[in-house]
Amino acid sequence: MAASLRRPSFSACSSSSADPDDEGVRGTCEDASICKRFAVSIGYWHDPYIQHFVRLSKERKAPEINRGYFARVHGVSQLIKAFLQKTECHCQILNLGAGMDTTFWRLKDEDLLPSKYFEVDFPMIVTRKLHSIKYKPFLLQPIIELHSEDTLQIDGHLLDSKRYAIIGADLRDLPDLEEKLKKCNMNPQLPTLLITECVLVYMTPEQSANLLKWAANSFETAMFINYEQVNMDDRFGQIMIENLRRRQCDLAGVETCKSLESQKERLLSNGWETASAVNMMEVYSRLPQAEASRIESLEFLDEMELLEQLMKHYCLCWASKGGSELGLKEITY
Ligand SMILES: C[S@@+](CC[C@H](N)C(=O)[O-])C[C@H]1O[C@@H](n2cnc3c(N)ncnc32)[C@H](O)[C@@H]1O
Repeated sequence: MAASLRRPSFSACSSSSADPDDEGVRGTCEDASICKRFAVSIGYWHDPYIQHFVRLSKERKAPEINRGYFARVHGVSQLIKAFLQKTECHCQILNLGAGMDTTFWRLKDEDLLPSKYFEVDFPMIVTRKLHSIKYKPFLLQPIIELHSEDTLQIDGHLLDSKRYAIIGADLRDLPDLEEKLKKCNMNPQLPTLLITECVLVYMTPEQSANLLKWAANSFETAMFINYEQVNMDDRFGQIMIENLRRRQCDLAGVETCKSLESQKERLLSNGWETASAVNMMEVYSRLPQAEASRIESLEFLDEMELLEQLMKHYCLCWASKGGSELGLKEITY
C-alpha cells in the first residue's frame, strides 16, 4: 500500500520573517489557501472571496486533495452553523490561526454573522491579509457596511470593526493574546466558538494544552472545533512528517495526533466537558448523496484507496463546556 502513496505536496513559503523558526509554519497558510482556491476554481464549493487573497496554482492539485479540502471546509462549516443555530447568532467566534480564511464574508452573505467574529494569526500573516482587504473594495465594503462608526481601525497588524476583528498575535503567548482580544471587545460572557483548523499540530503538546485550557477557563459557555491530522504513527503519517520537515516545518504536536482517542483526551483533560472526534472518511461518507454525487462528477478519481488513506489521516474534533440550556452538548456532525 505504502508504495502507491502519492506524496502530499507542499508549496514553499514566500515571506521573510522576524522569527525564522516559525517560517515553515507560516508557509502552511499559503499552502492551505492555494489548495482551497484551486478546489473552488473547479467548482467544489462556492467562495468568491478566496481569489482575492491568493493566486491560482499553476499546477493541478490531485483529486483526492481537492475532495479532502471539500470535506474539511464542509465539516467545519456544518459545526459552525450548528453552533450559530443553537445560539441564534448571539455569540462570538474566535478563529485561531485563521490564515486567509473567508468564513466571515461567507457567513455575512448567508445572514449568519455572530455578534462579533475574531481572527488571530501571526502578525506577518495578518499584515498580508489586511493589505488585501484594504485595497480590494469587494472585501472591505462588507466590513464597512456593518461598521456604524466613522473610523475603521486598520493598522499593520490589526483590524478592529464592529463585527470583525483581525489580530496579529502568537497563540503561544496567552497573556498577549488575551490582552489584544480584550482591546477588541471580546466578551467572555457571550457563548463563544473557538476554531483551530490545522493549527494545533504546529505547537508542542504543552503549548496546545495551554491554549485549550485558557479557552476553557475564559468562557463559561463555549465550543471548540479542531481539524487536524490523526493516525500519524503509520507509514503515511511518517511521509507527511518528513515532507514537512524538509520544508523546515515541524509538526511539533504530532504526538497528540496518534488517534481519535488521544485527540479527545487532550480536550477532556484541559477543561472541556464533552469531546467528540471523527476521521474525515467518516465525514466524507456522511455527505448528503446529492452533494457527494455532485463533487464526484467534477473530476475522475482513479484510486479510491488514495482518498481513503488521506481522509483517515485527518479528523474533525469538537468539544463543549456549559451551554446545556442552549443544547451545545447535542451538537454533532
Ligand atoms: C495550515 S494553516 C491553516 C489556515 C486556516 N486555518 C485554514 O484552514 O485555511 C495554519 C495557520 O496557523 C497559523 N499559526 C500556526 N501557529 C501559530 C501561532 N503560534 N500563532 C499564530 N498563528 C499560528 C499559521 O500562521 C497559519 O496561518
